[in-house]
Amino acid sequence: MLAHFRKHALPCLIALLVLLASWPAAAQTRHEYLLTTDWKFAKGDVPGAAKSDFKDAAWQTVSVPHDWAIYGPFDGSNDLQTVKIEQNNEQKATVKAGRTGGLPYVGTGWYRRQLPVAGFRPGQRAVLLFDGAMSDAHVFVNGQEIGNWPYGYSSFSFDITNYLQAKGPNTLAVRLKNQPESARWYPGAGLYRNVHLIITSDVHIPVWGTHLTTPEITAQSARVQLRTQVATSAGARQPLRLQTEIRDAAGQVVASNTSTLAAADRPEFDQSLRVPQPKLWSPETPFLYTAASRLYAGEVLKDEYKTTFGIRSVKFEKDKGFLLNGQPRKFKGVCNHHDLGPLGTAVNTAALRRQLTLLKDMGCDAIRTSHNMPAPELVSLCDEMGLLLMVEAFDEWKTPKVKNGYSQYFDQWAEKDLVNMVHRDRNHPSVIIWSIGNEVPDQSNAGGAAIAKRLQDIVHREDPTRPVGAGLDRFDDDFKYGIAAVLDIPGFNYKPSRYTEALSKLPQGFLLGSETASTVSSRGVYKFPVAVVKEKKYADNQSSSYDLEACSWSQIPDEEFAAQDDQPNVLGEFVWTGFDYLGEPTPYDEVWPSHNSYFGILDLAGMPKDRYYLYRARWNTAQSTLHLLPHWTWPGREGQTTPVFAYTNYPSAELFVNGQSQGRQTKHASDQPQTRYRLMWNEVKYQPGTLKVVAYDATGKAVAEEEVHTAGPPHHIKLVPNQTRLAADGQDLAYVTARVEDVQGNLCPNATNQLRMQVSGAGRFRAVGNGDATCLELFHQPQMHAFSGQVMVIVQATTTPGEIQLNVTGSGLSSATLRLQSERATVQ
Ligand code: GAL
Repeated sequence: MLAHFRKHALPCLIALLVLLASWPAAAQTRHEYLLTTDWKFAKGDVPGAAKSDFKDAAWQTVSVPHDWAIYGPFDGSNDLQTVKIEQNNEQKATVKAGRTGGLPYVGTGWYRRQLPVAGFRPGQRAVLLFDGAMSDAHVFVNGQEIGNWPYGYSSFSFDITNYLQAKGPNTLAVRLKNQPESARWYPGAGLYRNVHLIITSDVHIPVWGTHLTTPEITAQSARVQLRTQVATSAGARQPLRLQTEIRDAAGQVVASNTSTLAAADRPEFDQSLRVPQPKLWSPETPFLYTAASRLYAGEVLKDEYKTTFGIRSVKFEKDKGFLLNGQPRKFKGVCNHHDLGPLGTAVNTAALRRQLTLLKDMGCDAIRTSHNMPAPELVSLCDEMGLLLMVEAFDEWKTPKVKNGYSQYFDQWAEKDLVNMVHRDRNHPSVIIWSIGNEVPDQSNAGGAAIAKRLQDIVHREDPTRPVGAGLDRFDDDFKYGIAAVLDIPGFNYKPSRYTEALSKLPQGFLLGSETASTVSSRGVYKFPVAVVKEKKYADNQSSSYDLEACSWSQIPDEEFAAQDDQPNVLGEFVWTGFDYLGEPTPYDEVWPSHNSYFGILDLAGMPKDRYYLYRARWNTAQSTLHLLPHWTWPGREGQTTPVFAYTNYPSAELFVNGQSQGRQTKHASDQPQTRYRLMWNEVKYQPGTLKVVAYDATGKAVAEEEVHTAGPPHHIKLVPNQTRLAADGQDLAYVTARVEDVQGNLCPNATNQLRMQVSGAGRFRAVGNGDATCLELFHQPQMHAFSGQVMVIVQATTTPGEIQLNVTGSGLSSATLRLQSERATVQ
């Protein structure tokens, strides 16, 4: 039901309200409301805002998920940080303007809303579940404070039954407060994840009340162990019965069990079921099952609860590494922060689905949710689409990295945050590793290993089936103070040159490249001369897409590839990062207006940079890749050396400039790792015309070719959508690439035309982005300059089915219109 609501929130809510009005009392069990609409929002410290009779009519009406800071404006003085970033080997403090994105996330924000609890009856229970609230949430019902949760990434819930008024109205107010210098990236602000109201009977299954494991799996059958907690009111003395059916993806019942329990204070069912011929879950075959449970007290149906799960085995073995369903594999992973570029941190399932679609096409099979708990929607999508997750908890323990970061809460809250993380996500097949921290400075003191042990023990206590890891960056200290030996999965960040040494010392017999590469590039920007360089800065605040630039601590992709390929006991890698994110604009941390990262394989708007194809060539083993760079429109460079690279899964290729061969290149080992993974023609002299590459397979047969043409002047706009049929659920999104093309249809790679967009019909303009880390134009205004010839327009469906028209214009360009179809969302 829950997942369903997320997808089709409004129609479901309407259906539910109709149902509520007509449903006979005996059949009422559980109602879940997604509190998305009719919120009132105000920024600042508003006296009296918690009170139920407070007048909020003048406040802004918003829908939740909501990120109050993403609307800007960008300003280098927002959260200006004068810091020495130790993990970047900085020796002195300097002023960092865009570290948290240059967006106004600091300060207090209030949200208010009425709760839909008409018809709430004595004996029922009401719980508010927050998927995440940024940050330091104080929650009030009818003016009374019911609870507080500081960590903005945690999911948490409060029972509000005793604060409700039978006759209503019932007012919910939430105060959030973000401190300055509380983050190393853009954290977002406000109720940026969903808020649920859950109404149940007195006897019910509480939030995250099931724990499902699959301890025995053979080809013939899988044993499913389902522990189900039951909450009862004090003194309840009726016997309880739990009927559970396991259904496969087609809805067929494949196993069932009925158990009874005598009355008890904290009853817990433990059911064992056998699924015959189980279909195993993996990234390639993401088969899901559902355990549907019905809870009876005496003969009265009290609750219905569904647990989605997958059947798969996970093992990490000395000298064998990672085995999924008995098959060895290596993580082809990326790290991602939680923001969704132009949408900010406000979670949206369609935006996440598009990200995962792009990652899967690249051949990526894993995500590390750096450096915090993800939105529940991401975890469910990874189950459904087939991606492995390393779910991370913290970026700091006791020793701070930023002045007002998590260290202030660590002693009091770490266990509660970890328990909620594990309880929420432990039934998900996609979750493979729990990570307790990233580059925590406590690696360098004698107590660090003990903290790691304590946190790991907490996680094992709550989930004995999965290993615990962390991302370590202080290599010598990790062995000196012992943390590397404590972890189930020792992860090293940016240490390919020391993998062999680490493996000789580690008792585990394997290690993970928990964070790798941190190569920097700007989509469509190429710099000359072409060279492997560190910390390189240019006057235009961009980095080169020849993919040879990194930071003092980081590497180009090829260095990691070589270390992974030469060392069998490395479990794989998580590249920093899949997508560019707001904040941390290294190497321009000190040079405003840079305010988003350059590390992404895809840019902030989700447009692939060249590196996408370097990873795709290596990771996507089902499809071929042949990609040429740079673009071939260089007025003024005639006769100058302009290297050409091909990213391809094929071993060799021949390059032609205007039909003239530039020779054949073959991947080979040398003292430069990139010669093993790229084909490079370093001496090509630019002349306008056609670049053509012909790729050969291992037998020497010509198997693929690719061309790039010099573009003429900008002529028209072309619109390319990621999908043309949307669900009319008020949430679904189409991502439409607007390309500036010449008369022949070639992308004009230097075009910077300002484009304007208008959406009419059954949709609305949602946001726009161009991936330029220096661009201060606002994401929610329907106009933006093209960057390297492109912008990404995000169109959102309304709740009315029908045609959506997107019109994009630009001066001197023929405009373009795209028609999308929004269809009635199905309620299952
Ligand atoms: C790592 C850190 C990441 C990010 C990255 C940039 O040290 O874990 O959060 O800062 O560096 O290269």
